[in-house]
Amino acid sequence: MVNAETFKGRNIISMREFDRAEIDFVLDTADDMVKLEQERSDLLKGKVLAALFFEPSTRTRLSFESAMNRLGGSVIGFATPAGSSVEKGESLADTIRTVSQYSDIIAMRHPDEESSRMAAKVASVPVINGGSGPWEHPTQALLDLHTIRTAKGTIDGLNIALAGDLKFGRTTHSLAVALRNFDVKCHFVSPDSLKMRQDVIDDVEGKLDYTETEDLKSILPEMDIVYATRIQKERFSDPADYERLKDAYLIDKEFLRGAKEDMKLMHPLPRINEISTDVDDTPHALYFKQMRHGIYLRMALLALVLGAV
Ligand code: NCD
Repeated sequence: MVNAETFKGRNIISMREFDRAEIDFVLDTADDMVKLEQERSDLLKGKVLAALFFEPSTRTRLSFESAMNRLGGSVIGFATPAGSSVEKGESLADTIRTVSQYSDIIAMRHPDEESSRMAAKVASVPVINGGSGPWEHPTQALLDLHTIRTAKGTIDGLNIALAGDLKFGRTTHSLAVALRNFDVKCHFVSPDSLKMRQDVIDDVEGKLDYTETEDLKSILPEMDIVYATRIQKERFSDPADYERLKDAYLIDKEFLRGAKEDMKLMHPLPRINEISTDVDDTPHALYFKQMRHGIYLRMALLALVLGAV
């Protein structure tokens, strides 16, 4: 039986470690946080979150910080390794061992795929993966699911397109793996050279009903959710490849003609060229609300892992 105890002291590293009942429980707890957020709760009073960001972040870092503050806890950490002993050459393992002494929980982002798993091994407090290179971004997947469930009332039964950079985009990796727990039809939409990572395909095979295509327009009329993503410039070894692919999908109001009236467009943000601002005031735009769910979801995770709910 899944209950709050299931999450106490647990590392949140990968969506591969979540089953359906656990996902549902986290989303239900995030529902409860919508109310708590307005009341300014003291649920995590006296607890310290260390937010360690070795890669750029706006939403993930600030929503973790805001979530902790809103539950009465406090936050230490850094937004860039510059200025920390990492600059002097300290290893990630030693940084994590150190920060474990000063905090009750660590949320981290790092360019190395193995970073959060390795950190969890050496940390004496729970570790939450806020983005591990191109590999995974599990808290984003959970907030994406919470956004979809809130907007649509259900996740099961939906037609969902994940579009853009499926090779390097960690949000799509975590979301695809999470969706294998649901009765959805998933469409992986990307240029041929940015197709969904093979390890994700292997992990969803036989569990998730999916198709692969380069053509977003042709499947658009059936979609309930289109989840657009940024081409991950920082992961390309050849800048010419990025230049060639950066405008692969440009979604504007005109492009969305033919979409279902209640089709919702999502994006983990930042958007570069993927979604034109002329979509922002249409009923399709869900990407700003999506950010808001980051607060509820991260409040829920912090409270669950710290054993406060
Ligand atoms: C994403 C990330 O960092 O993976 N942003 C986020 O966390 N909301 C997406 C991206 O950078 O493209």
